[in-house]
Amino acid sequence: MNSATPPKTSTSVKRTVRSNTCGELRAANLDQEVTLCGWIAKRRDHGGLVFADLRDRYGLTQIVFDPALPGGLEAHETASRIRGEFVIWCKGIVRKRPEGMTNSKMITGEVEVACTDLVILSEAKTPPFAIDDDVEVAETLRLKHRYLDLRRPSLQKNLIIRHRMLSIVRNHLDQQNFLEVETPILYKSTPEGARDFIVPSRLNPGTFYALPQSPQTLKQLLMISGMDRYYQIARCFRDEDLRADRQPEFTQIDIEQSFLDEEGFFPLMEAMVAKLWKEILGQEIQLPFPRMAYKEAMTRFGSDKPDVRFGLELQDISEIFEASTFQVFQNALTTNARGRKGAVRAIVVAGQAEKFSRKDLDDLQSQAGTYGAKGLLWMKIQPTGEIQSPAAKFFSDAEKAALIAQLGLKPGDLVLAVADAREKVVHDSMGALRLALGARLGMIPKHGEGKPAFLWVVNFPLVEYDDRENRFFATHHPFTSPRPQFFQDFINGTNMENIEASAYDMVLNGVEIGGGSLRIYRPDVQAAMFKLLGLSPAEAKDKFGYFLEALQYGTPPHGGMAFGVERLAALLCGVGPIRDVMAFPKTQRGHCLMSESPSHVSPDQLSELEIAVIRQPSLGAASSGSGAAASLAPAGDEA
Ligand code: AMO
Ligand code: AMP
Repeated sequence: MNSATPPKTSTSVKRTVRSNTCGELRAANLDQEVTLCGWIAKRRDHGGLVFADLRDRYGLTQIVFDPALPGGLEAHETASRIRGEFVIWCKGIVRKRPEGMTNSKMITGEVEVACTDLVILSEAKTPPFAIDDDVEVAETLRLKHRYLDLRRPSLQKNLIIRHRMLSIVRNHLDQQNFLEVETPILYKSTPEGARDFIVPSRLNPGTFYALPQSPQTLKQLLMISGMDRYYQIARCFRDEDLRADRQPEFTQIDIEQSFLDEEGFFPLMEAMVAKLWKEILGQEIQLPFPRMAYKEAMTRFGSDKPDVRFGLELQDISEIFEASTFQVFQNALTTNARGRKGAVRAIVVAGQAEKFSRKDLDDLQSQAGTYGAKGLLWMKIQPTGEIQSPAAKFFSDAEKAALIAQLGLKPGDLVLAVADAREKVVHDSMGALRLALGARLGMIPKHGEGKPAFLWVVNFPLVEYDDRENRFFATHHPFTSPRPQFFQDFINGTNMENIEASAYDMVLNGVEIGGGSLRIYRPDVQAAMFKLLGLSPAEAKDKFGYFLEALQYGTPPHGGMAFGVERLAALLCGVGPIRDVMAFPKTQRGHCLMSESPSHVSPDQLSELEIAVIRQPSLGAASSGSGAAASLAPAGDEA
């Protein structure tokens, strides 16, 4: 073999490496000979000269192909063949751009590289859309060719921020003695309120693994193992209805600690989050975060993740209408069989009544309807101070006067109210109405405007009663401990609906970025919890027997929380849907448009698993990348 002359082809080692990236060259590099590699973002032929913008993850650099340069003739000739998205290697001299030609929008805008040698490393088909942040392209098309979409600087920036976020988190937790431990993906059901994704076992036909909805039981078992402080950047899988801020698989910063209370744990979490905002956005966050009880959050904001950056708070007007003759209010305020009473709550839009047409009010009413509200009552205060409303004729003079006094109403004000026998319907519909009004009236700050509003929501109810299923559900998950003062009630099975949990959520600008709790660590209390949730001893043993047994071998008091990585990253990046901070997200219908998954498997695979598909649905819509399969959760969807 003759090794003396290296082959003069594009595979030569020297002509595939670079001296600099495309985001690096400045005036300080003038007259240096450099080599660059990247993708052709733009090419302009000016007769004698060819210009190209070369792109990589780090930026753009302008390359000039000038036949008059030494070696330039051949490079210029090759340059006439390059097209958008070709991958090239080039060598050249850094020179200052001519007077008036500098580009302040480009970080390398002072200079250009005069090319003396050019190799085309890869050719590219014409891409189905322009790789450009300023060009609107249907997201379904972008997801189908996600690898091209990810060449866009904005998506690259998002993934870089996500990476930095996780490396800051790892460092922070490492410094605090947390151990990163990986837990299995092929596992058993872990209840977080969604459906499980299940995986058939070939070796044990007829049995299934469940993908973890979170590593909840596993991290608690690690506490029983004495790991003391655990964390994991954990993949979680939940088969639930998707929205702009929910994906079927997502990532958590999952944390658990032994021998803790909220007073010690909260500052650790706050410091971690504050570090992210400081190091990534340069923003100083005030510590500690305020805390708000769940009840207060619900009554004032109609939400357990309140956006406290604007007003439009809910006002309780139930008392005024205690003896109302208006049927709607009567129905809401009558005590039901379970001793519960509904509510009438209102939002006042001060001085802006004339901005809301009949159609606007109808639209708001139908939005409220999606949360179960049977109507949305509007009242406008006339210049005379009179109340104009479809229900005004049912109000007594005393009720009208009390309403005006309590809400401080003035001419031009709009009042919107929902009455319902179920307080949850009132909260949910009014909470959503408040956000819709805030958005419509431009009251919600945009990314980067104003201070981020962090807060803890605490003292959640331990369980909630579901009227339809006639049973209790754990508000967080069934491993959450009652607050100590409610322990006895819990053991006795009394006062259930008023028992508060040692559970907490971290909320930022109306987004639940994380949640957690102190855990039950007594086996009898855990067994009582499963019983309350309607699991028979046999079911509890089948599902969580291993866990109940483990609790009996010396369990430290422990607790923790998990942050949604995508939600945190989306807030740091200032984007709406979490898809924008994920490399390969799925559509609202759970499809990956790029790989066309989920997809059919071969009859052989099924028979090996001893599985028969009862009905073979058509997955055609998924492959065409259109129709229902390709539908995406809209950015603002908060249903
Ligand atoms: P939880 O279910 O509240 O708690 O989840 C923690 C955080 O994960 C994020 N999140 C999601 N992000 C994207 N897509 C989803 N489908 C999705 N679901 C949840 C949210 C949420 O706050 N094991 C407990 C934590 C604990 O108790 O320690 C748990 O998983 O930001
Ligand atoms: P109706 O008597 O059905 O014409 O309703 C009179 C007004 O009350 C309409 O504007 C309805 O939108 C409103 N309304 C009906 N049900 C409710 C409710 N549960 N909460 C608030 N407003 C309601």
